[in-house]
Amino acid sequence: MSSILDIARPDLLELQAYSHATWDSALERLHANESPWRPAGDASVAGLNRYPEPHPRELTAALAALYGVQPGCVLAGRGSDEAIDLLVRGFCRAGRDAVMVCTPTFGMYAVAAQIQGARVIEVPLLQEQDFALDENAILGLADGEDPTARVKLVFLCSPNNPTGNVLQSVVIERLCTALRGHALVVLDEAYIEFSATDSFISRLAEFDNLVVLRTLSKAFALAGVRCGCLVGAPDLVEFLGRLLPPYALPSPTVEAVVRALKPAGCAEVQLRVRLVVAERERLRAALTRLPAVRKVWPSATNFLLVQFKDAERCMQASIAAGLLVRDVRRQRGLGDALRITVGTEDQNNRLLQTLERA
Ligand SMILES: Cc1ncc(COP(=O)(O)O)c(C=O)c1O
Repeated sequence: MSSILDIARPDLLELQAYSHATWDSALERLHANESPWRPAGDASVAGLNRYPEPHPRELTAALAALYGVQPGCVLAGRGSDEAIDLLVRGFCRAGRDAVMVCTPTFGMYAVAAQIQGARVIEVPLLQEQDFALDENAILGLADGEDPTARVKLVFLCSPNNPTGNVLQSVVIERLCTALRGHALVVLDEAYIEFSATDSFISRLAEFDNLVVLRTLSKAFALAGVRCGCLVGAPDLVEFLGRLLPPYALPSPTVEAVVRALKPAGCAEVQLRVRLVVAERERLRAALTRLPAVRKVWPSATNFLLVQFKDAERCMQASIAAGLLVRDVRRQRGLGDALRITVGTEDQNNRLLQTLERA
């Protein structure tokens, strides 16, 4: 039977993971060269003097329940950034393989590839079609005729950062089908909670070359704990799990995530997502009316991509008012645009007043 691991780095397939100290919370630990005493101010359950559980089962089970999959399909790491890094390291041979990114998009895909020595092939999104995927260009370039740049990973981000749009499901399906046995489609759904779109997690069984990335940094308000995950086939999860550094997830992270994913925490997230979506639409309508604004792109995320007449002036005015917005002007095709995260009602009002004066 074919597996997506057929295109993984062959030199890593037999890699023995680091052999960490046995983890058994029922026994007293005189085997890992830890301190027997907790540090001052330690309010954690597990004790900060102890190494954390290497592959934290409670956290993995909580994420699996959240996303409706078996725990064996989830690989948790320090943000989805870590999953991106592991995928590139696990699939791309330095100087020989390539990743494909559909720009403008999240910058870490290209950075992780460059660190690994993989080539980055850019396929611009079609701005005139509301940043839709250029399906023909993706398939043409992923064809693999260039032996020095075999495309192993195709990164798709939906909803996309920084453009805010959802990519067309039928195109994602067609890409998965066409790239089967050839490249892994990595679908980053970091912002999906703010959209009305269904996750592709429920479709994973249909496409053996698809993995989905999710994060707790956005809708779940846990950016500070650094937790995200990859959801995919168990053999892929097992393979990438062997590349993770030992004890990757700190115990304060594990404890905070397990607490936050209890039913009350999840209910609170849903309320806040609704609040963000309502504020996003109010902010979008108000920005559209400002003389300084040329265009506000529709958004299925917690941010807005805004094209200004004079982006520099608006950014400086925001900074002077104590408000930071993201400068995305250097990204392909976004000459005069800024990315604005939806804040509280008060923050959004202050930004609107500032931009009105600018
Ligand atoms: C599209 C996208 N993917 C992934 C990430 C990284 O998320 P994490 O905090 O889980 O590493 C971000 C962060 O901004 C993002 O915008």
